Amino acid sequence: MIITIDGPSGVGKGTIAKIISEKLNIKYLDSGAMYRALALYADMHNIKENDSDKLKKLLIDIHIQFINEDGIDKVYLNTEDVTDEIRTNEISRLASKFASLEIVRGILREMQKRIVRKKDYVAEGRDMGTYVFPEANYKFYLDADPQIRAERRANQLEKILGIKVNKSKVLEEINERDELDKTRAICPLHPAEDSVIIDTSELSIDNVVNKISDRIIIDG
Ligand code: C5P
Repeated sequence: MIITIDGPSGVGKGTIAKIISEKLNIKYLDSGAMYRALALYADMHNIKENDSDKLKKLLIDIHIQFINEDGIDKVYLNTEDVTDEIRTNEISRLASKFASLEIVRGILREMQKRIVRKKDYVAEGRDMGTYVFPEANYKFYLDADPQIRAERRANQLEKILGIKVNKSKVLEEINERDELDKTRAICPLHPAEDSVIIDTSELSIDNVVNKISDRIIIDG
């Protein structure tokens, strides 16, 4: 069984997908973390998104893994734990830029398919139900007002990084990333035709989780 949860930045997909995976006792794929790890890798090697030859060579050696350590999913880039490092605003911005490149999407799409092969998964991102797993059994698209998403993202960043963040700057960045994700030529962000669209602006996490899991139990 594959469940996909797509939607724009800060909509709560990660939190919701994790809870659904625990509830149903299936695995969770955070595809955004893979775009982030790739962006960090390119940045560490000083490669810009318009340098496609260097990027192509660099990506031959990239390995991204999710390793569960004491119940926490850690993101490994080659042999390094980059779980926290990939959550900065700078990496968010870079990830969206690299995500518009065909070579990047092609490599990560293959990795995502390989990870999910033969296991039950809830896969979360921007193109899970549309381009990576069009055959998914259940597809959900979460959306919310950008102001509310910015607030959620700012709170999340404060929790992870332990620093105060500027909310209007976060809103600006969310709008910028929405624009990049929705207008790129390859695999742009949009709901799959057969997805259930949920506006989470006025909903609590529990409300959203219930809407999703009700659907799965009813259909299943
Ligand atoms: O979800 P998250 O904010 O971690 O994703 C980081 C960036 O990676 C997004 O802004 C988006 O540009 C890109 N991404 C993507 N396709 C996915 C997941 C993430 O293009 N499936």
